[in-house]
Amino acid sequence: MADELDQVRSRIDIVDLIGQRQSLKKAGKHWKGLCPFHDDRDPSMIVNRAMGRYKCWACGASGDIFNWVMETQRVDFKEALRILADQAGVEIRRQDPKKRSEREEVEKITAAAQSYFRAELGKSQAARDYLEQRGIDKQTQDEWGIGYAPDTFEGLTSTLQKKGFSLQVAEAAFLAKPSSRGNFIDIFRGRVIVPIKDERGRLIAFGGRILGDGQPKYINSSDTPIFRKGRILYGLDRAKDVIAKAGYAILVEGYMDVIACRMAGVENSVANLGTAFTEEHAGILKRWCTKVVILYDRDTAGQKAAMKTAEILLEAGVKPLIAMPPEGEDPDSLLQRDGAKAVQELVASAVTPTEQRIQLVKEKFSPADDEYWNEIAEALAMSSSPMELERCLEPLAVDLPGVSDRSSAQAMLRRMAAKAKRKMTAERKGRPASEPVPERKKPARISGLESTVLRSLIIPALAKQAWELLEDNEMFHSPAAKAAAMAVRTEFPDAAPDVEPSIWVNRLAEEVAELLMQAEGPDSVELSSEHLASAAKRLKAKSEARSRQAMVETATGDDEALQKLNESLRKAHKKTI
Ligand code: CTP
Ligand code: MN
Repeated sequence: MADELDQVRSRIDIVDLIGQRQSLKKAGKHWKGLCPFHDDRDPSMIVNRAMGRYKCWACGASGDIFNWVMETQRVDFKEALRILADQAGVEIRRQDPKKRSEREEVEKITAAAQSYFRAELGKSQAARDYLEQRGIDKQTQDEWGIGYAPDTFEGLTSTLQKKGFSLQVAEAAFLAKPSSRGNFIDIFRGRVIVPIKDERGRLIAFGGRILGDGQPKYINSSDTPIFRKGRILYGLDRAKDVIAKAGYAILVEGYMDVIACRMAGVENSVANLGTAFTEEHAGILKRWCTKVVILYDRDTAGQKAAMKTAEILLEAGVKPLIAMPPEGEDPDSLLQRDGAKAVQELVASAVTPTEQRIQLVKEKFSPADDEYWNEIAEALAMSSSPMELERCLEPLAVDLPGVSDRSSAQAMLRRMAAKAKRKMTAERKGRPASEPVPERKKPARISGLESTVLRSLIIPALAKQAWELLEDNEMFHSPAAKAAAMAVRTEFPDAAPDVEPSIWVNRLAEEVAELLMQAEGPDSVELSSEHLASAAKRLKAKSEARSRQAMVETATGDDEALQKLNESLRKAHKKTI
C-alpha cells in the first residue's frame, strides 16, 4: 500500500491535477489560483509542485493530491486512491479477488457489446435515418458512441458467445436474459443504443430507445456489478469540468436531452436515467457545483418531479432553480423546433422553486379560491431567504381578500407562510440532517529563521545540511517547528530523505506536512547554504539566551531555586579549577 501510494505520488503532478479543474498561474515558485473551497474572488490558493501540496491562505484548506480528490469530488480515501492510481496507471491490489474478477468480466463483455452495437449501426440504414431525423447527425453519433441493436433475438448473444464470453456473464451485465425455451436472448432489440458512462468516463451500461413507436419506449440497463442507476448521472464525465467552472449544472430527464443540450452549446447538462432523482445524485452534484437548474417536462408529472428534485437538492445544500419548457416540449424537441438559442434562453429563464410554484398556482387557481391562498402559503414557505420571501410576497398581498391596507395584507401573508413552513418542517423531522461543515485549523506560528531551516529540507542541495541541523531540536522555539523537526528525524533517523519531497513530505503527519508547506512561503527568497548556516547560528544563539534567561527568571524571587543556581555555579566553578 505504501509503495502504491508513493508510486501514485511520484507520477501525479499536483499542478496538472488541480489545473484540470482550476486555472492556475505561475507565481514565483508556486502556482496560484482561485480556491474552490470558499467564495474566492482574488486567487488565494497556492500550489507547490515540489512538495505536492496545495494551501489556501484565506480559508486554510490544504492537503496533497489525495486530499484534493477527496475534497473536490467528495469521495473517501480509498476511492481517491483508485481515481488517482487510474490516472497514474498504477495497479492497486484489491482485497476481494473474486469480486474483482466478476467486475472485470462484466466490464469486458460490456465493451464487447458496445463494439457490436457500433458495428450494427453502420449496417442499418433505418437506424441511421431515425437518428438523422431526430437531428442526431453522424458526428454526434460518433461523439456519444451511439449504436444500434438490430431486431433479432440472438444477434448480440451469438456474437458474444463466438467471442468466448459466458452468457451467464452476459446476463449479469444486463445484455441477455433466459427465454421461455431455456436459451439466452438479447435484451436490447430494435433499438438505438446510447452507451452510459460513469463519472470517470468508463462504459458501464446502456440505454436503448425503440425506433419509432412501440413499447416500452426506453429500456435501460438495470443494476449490474458495475452499474448503480441511483448514483449515475448521464453525461457527467463530459460535463463535470464545465459544471465546476460555470458553478452550476443543468439537470434534464434523459440522455436525448443531454445530447440535445450539448448540441445547442449548453455543455453543463446531466440526466438521471429514467429513475427518480436521489439523495445520492444530489451528493454527486454537490461535489461539482452549488446550483442546479432543473429542466424537466412541462406536464404535471414533470413539474411534480421537478419540485421533488428541488427539495432533495435543497436538503443536500444545493440551490435549485427550475426552468419550464414551453407546452409539450423538452430540451430535445425544443432544439429541433426552435434551435439552439431557444434552449439557451430556456436555461436562462430559470426561477427559484418558490417563484415557479407561485406561477403554477396562478395558472391553476384564482385569488378568489381558498386553494389559491393555501398553495401560495406553501410556495412562500419554500423560499430560501427572507429577501426572497419579501420579493415574492409583495405583489401577491394586494390580492388578499378582506384585507384593505397593504401592510396588514403583507403581515397576514407572512404569518400564513410561517405557519405552512412550521408544518413542512414538522413533516420533515426525523430525517437525517446534512453533514456538518468541518472547522478549519488555524495555521501554526513559526519564525522566519525556523522557516529557513525547515524549508531547506525541500531543496535537494540543502536537504542534508538541514537534516543534520534538526538533531538539535532545542534550537527551535515554537512548538510547531520543534514537533516538525522531531517528526522528520523520526521518519528519517539515519539520513536525510532521498526521495522527492512530494513523496516524503506527505508521508508525515498532516500538521507537519502543512507546516513545511507554510514555511515555503509564496514570496520566499532562494536559499543558499550560507543562509541556512546563518539562520541556524542565530537560532542557536537565541536558544542559549532563552535558557539563561529562564534560569535567571526561576531563580529570582524563589530562594530555593536561587540556592540551586548558586550551587550549580559553584560546582561548575570547582570543576574548572
Ligand atoms: N428515459 C429513460 N428511461 C425511461 C424513460 C425515459 O431513460 N424509462 C429518458 C430518456 O432518455 C429520454 C427522457 O427520459 O431522453 C425523456 O423521456 P420521455 O419524456 O418519456 O420521452 P420523450 O421525450 O417523449 O422521448 P422521445 O423524445 O424519445 O420521444
Ligand atoms: Mn424527448
